[in-house]
Formats: sequence, structure tokens, C-alpha cells
Amino acid sequence: MDKKIVYSGIQPSGTLTIGNYIGALRNFPTLQEEYNCIYCIVDMHAVTAPQEPKVLRQHTLDILALYLAVGIDPEKSILYIQSHVPQHVELAWLLNTITGVGQLQRMTQFKDKSQRSNEILAGILNYPVLMASDILLYQTDLVPVGDDQKQHIELTRDLAQRFNSRYSETFKIPDMMAPKVGARIMSLQDPEKKMSKSDEDVNAFISMVDDDATIRRKVKRAVTDSEGVIRYSDSQKAIKNLIDIYASFSGKNPEEIVKAYDGQGYGILKEELAEVIIQGMGPIRDDFLEIRKDKEYLEKVYREGAEKASYFANKTLRKVYRKMGFIPR
Ligand code: AMP
Ligand code: TRP
Repeated sequence: MDKKIVYSGIQPSGTLTIGNYIGALRNFPTLQEEYNCIYCIVDMHAVTAPQEPKVLRQHTLDILALYLAVGIDPEKSILYIQSHVPQHVELAWLLNTITGVGQLQRMTQFKDKSQRSNEILAGILNYPVLMASDILLYQTDLVPVGDDQKQHIELTRDLAQRFNSRYSETFKIPDMMAPKVGARIMSLQDPEKKMSKSDEDVNAFISMVDDDATIRRKVKRAVTDSEGVIRYSDSQKAIKNLIDIYASFSGKNPEEIVKAYDGQGYGILKEELAEVIIQGMGPIRDDFLEIRKDKEYLEKVYREGAEKASYFANKTLRKVYRKMGFIPR
């Protein structure tokens, strides 16, 4: 039997955080042993927020270098840049014709983002339709993403089902694949908010490329709870978050960690947490710094990736056009 298809994407809208790493990226290289994996840098999604052109270019190549640094092998997986495969945008247009505006307005991410700005841009509203196209173009079985993407995956499934029932079986219905621990890492400054690379407070996140001293400093400054005891509970969200991060990097479960620090203060937990993060992130950061210097290699990877991705994208898109009644070229 053919291997199942895994598809995921990351926006080049900043330097990735340990939240991105734990919630998504870390699982990518493991998956390539068992599945046919396609990993994309979704630059068309990133431009739904204002981007400085020079910075966008840098971030796009940096995400590619990070994909490689965590161990994604371009011989095994397809690694490419979304804008290099224009079929994504073509399919997005077609899917827009079967998407309800109300459905899009109900997306939590849309509500959050539009509340924060005085002009609501159409790109933000339509963002999930483009994401659905990414996934459906490749007849994806599984989408490894963090919890925040759940609603978008549900919309993707819904659009696929709608299209299939209107025009006959065309798209595979994908499933979400969320990590067991760490599907939602929170801000170090506000445990009610998710850790995000676009947070204006740099102390709120640890970047995947922060140096050791910065990691120690940010962990030390992380907010804690007033209770002063180490417990894994929703009533102590800040400590729970630190334990989740600890668990993800150490492979220990939250109960073991709580037991190990029983009766001790937050200071020692934080000190050791910083070391656990450094151990996990340090080697990847160092590889990343080497890989990003090799512009020729990066170019080779994304060119070959786009070529491979286009083949599959075309196959699905031709089918879609035919079923909808367009005249083939
Ligand atoms: P983005 O940075 O929005 O492009 O997200 C890239 C991937 O990282 C997606 O799969 C997200 O679900 C995941 N992700 C982003 N932030 C977090 C977080 N704070 N905790 C866990 N996963 C996250
Ligand atoms: N919306 C996703 C995020 O912000 C990024 C994304 C775009 C994606 N297209 C995708 C993730 C396709 C998985 C599959 O994290």
C-alpha cells in the first residue's frame, strides 16, 4: 500500500519560537520515516499581515534552514515555498466559490486578528481557504499542527466534503495530528496567550535561535504564580506552561517533574528548565547558523521542492477544473 501523505506549513512571519518547535516542527523529521511528507513555507499566508520585503525574504530562507536543521531530509520529503507553486492560489479561488462568508467570520483567529485592527482586510478573512487549498491539493491524509489550527482543519474537511458531494469524489478528507504534550505552549509573560513569534514583547517567547544567555534570561524572567508551590494544574497556568516545556524537552511526563521538584522553589525549576531547553535547542540552532550561510544549497532545495510539489498540485487541480466544467487547455 502507498504511504500516507503528511502535509504541514509554517509562515515566514518571524523567527520561530520553541512553541512552533514543540507544537509542530519537532515532529516533522520523525514523520518522514513512515509517511510521504510535504513541508511548505507559506509565504502567501505571511503577507496577510504587513511584511517588510527584505525581512520577508530573510525569514523565508530562515524557515527553510530551520526545516533542514531539525533534520528534514529533502531526499525523503518535499520542502518548498508556497508562492513557487501558483496552483495553491488557483484552487483557493475555486474553493472561495463554495465557502460561506459566515463560516470564515466565525474563525477564532479571524475574530482575534480583526479585533486588533481598524481595517479588516479580505486576505485575513480568506486565509483559511488558502490553507485548505494547501492541504487538499496534495490529497493529504494527516496534518501535524498545534491546537490553534483545529478550526482551520475542520473548515478544510468541510470544504472537501462539500466539493466532493457537489462534483463527485475529488479530495481526500484530511485529519489533524496534534502532539500529545505541548500542542499549545503559552507566552512566558502572559499564560493566557499562546506563545507567538509576532509578540511585541521579546520576553514572551524563546526563539529557536536564541543564544544560551538569552534563553537563561528569558526563563528567569518568566512570570510564575503567587502560590509558590509546584503543581500541574489549570489554576497555575504559568507553572503548568513551564512544566509543559520541561516535559517536551526532557521526555519526562508532568507528574515526574512535579515529583522531582516537590517542596522546592520556582528558582531552581527555572534554572534547570533553561538548561533543558539549551540542551534541546542548542545543537539545532548551531546547525541552522551553518546551513543558512549556504545560499546555493538552500536554492537547490527549494527549486527541486517546487518542481516535485507542482507535479502533485497540477494533478489535483486539473481534476478540479475538469469536474467544475472548465474547458481544458
Ligand atoms: P505559525 O507560526 O502560525 O505559522 O505556526 C506554525 C506551526 O506551529 C503551526 O502548526 C502551529 O499550530 C504551531 N504553533 C504556533 N504557536 C504555537 C504554540 N504556542 N504552541 C504550540 N504550537 C504552536
Ligand atoms: N495557518 C497555519 C499557521 O498559522 C500555517 C499553514 C498554512 C498551514 N497552510 C497550512 C499549516 C497547511 C498546515 C497545513 O500555523
